[in-house]
Amino acid sequence: MRLGIVGATGVVGKTFIKVLEEKELEFEEIRFFASKRSAGKEIEYNNKKYYVEELNEDSFDNLDFALFSAGASTSKKYSDIASKKGCVVIDNSSAFRMDSDVELIVPEVNGERIEFMKDSKKIIANPNCSTIQCMEVLSRLHKKYGLKRVIYSTYQAVSGSGAKGIKDLEKGLNGESAEFYSKDIAFNCLPLIDELLDNGYTKEEIKMIEETRKILNIPDLNVTATCVRVPVWNGHSVSVNVELEKEFDIEEIKKMLSESENLVLTDEIPTVLDCNGQDKVFVGRIRRDFSVKNGINFWCVADNIRKGAATNAIQILELFLGGKK
Ligand code: A2P
Repeated sequence: MRLGIVGATGVVGKTFIKVLEEKELEFEEIRFFASKRSAGKEIEYNNKKYYVEELNEDSFDNLDFALFSAGASTSKKYSDIASKKGCVVIDNSSAFRMDSDVELIVPEVNGERIEFMKDSKKIIANPNCSTIQCMEVLSRLHKKYGLKRVIYSTYQAVSGSGAKGIKDLEKGLNGESAEFYSKDIAFNCLPLIDELLDNGYTKEEIKMIEETRKILNIPDLNVTATCVRVPVWNGHSVSVNVELEKEFDIEEIKKMLSESENLVLTDEIPTVLDCNGQDKVFVGRIRRDFSVKNGINFWCVADNIRKGAATNAIQILELFLGGKK
């Protein structure tokens, strides 16, 4: 198996490398791509030195898989070129997530969708980071009780904006103004992630709404979201309010969630500092919402660069390597 990493010098790209090393996956060949700016930079992988190559149309010759995390415009420009050359693209950007002929996968929730990857397209999309971490709990609740309505409120770390977001928080802490964000992020909360649309929502909020429906395969699910950037280095928190169709017992729900190997259910208060560097989603503050019939609240935190991006993409790669396709 020959693998390429596109955006290898970025925040997610570096984590692809780390997670691949941890998982000890074997490759006949591995190559690292970024922009012209980084060409020739050294990268260490499994104690061996590699050099970053400038991404171009020939980069995908003789590659079987490529993990992309270099922004939506790079994905739009190069994914088709890669897939036409027979290279399967696992794309972390938002470029293709809602395309009807592209699968959007969280392995433990809808991994079986890998079977439906269009050979003509050979692109699988990795969902939005905040969405990924809520999917398993919501999927389990839906299977047992039916989802009626979901309300997300997010508290998202600056690492989700890549190197530019991290730099802006550093600047703010040094008393300098933000360059990338529209307002200062240090000691502040910005209820604006990605572009503001004419309907009053941000693109990030629309991503959460649409991707939730697609991954859970509930096209008419009532979902709304408010996405907020907070001065946290790494790790997203999401407060989720859910209305269920059927009556439930809260202890039964806790038991059901505690049976998952991907979730850490805790009576302690889960925070991003608890889940940094890990691949599991921490869930807590599970309680009945007394203001509606069959309402429940929960809080979940995850490492947005690992489970919310790099790890989930590599778990998709593992679905292929596991011979499911
Ligand atoms: P580079 O480091 O050369 O700019 P982050 O999200 O942390 O900002 O990282 C973005 C990643 O995407 C980096 O590896 C960056 O490379 C890469 N990238 C950005 N633009 C391009 C491009 N036009 N072609 C290839 N890689 C790109």
